Amino acid sequence: MPAPYIEFRDVSKAFGDNVVLEHVNFNVMTGETVCILGRSGVGKSVSLHHIMGFLKPDSGRVIVAGEDITDYTEEQLEHVRYTGRCGGCARESNGPRVMPCRIDEISTFRR
Ligand SMILES: Nc1ncnc2c1ncn2[C@@H]1O[C@H](COP(=O)(O)OP(=O)(O)OP(=O)(O)O)[C@@H](O)[C@H]1O
Ligand SMILES: [Mg+2]
Repeated sequence: MPAPYIEFRDVSKAFGDNVVLEHVNFNVMTGETVCILGRSGVGKSVSLHHIMGFLKPDSGRVIVAGEDITDYTEEQLEHVRYTGRCGGCARESNGPRVMPCRIDEISTFRR
């Protein structure tokens, strides 16, 4: 059984009293396409930002490209983002960091 390419292990994230992610678990296998659906404010972008390493979880682990990036430095994250192991695009309306392209809420992950 291959390891997941992306994995949330019991991820929780709150901004003050606003609990956005609460013990979230999911796997994405290599080649698998996953769509995150939910009403506005449910935490879709926050989830993507964890995958890109723009946000850190309060607890839990985030695995990308088979690597536990939870405690990665910005330098290590840049390597994961821009060496083809994790290409991501997130529409940004509420964050300071904007990816170079604007594919609305679509992230593609490749080997
Ligand atoms: N950097 C931040 N600081 C504080 N609160 C934040 C931050 N980013 C997101 N939030 C809050 O987290 C919650 C989830 O936001 P998020 O942007 O993930 O929603 P979403 O599901 O992507 O919504 P939409 O469909 O409108 O894009 C919202 O209550 C939002 O205000
Ligand atoms: Mg969003």
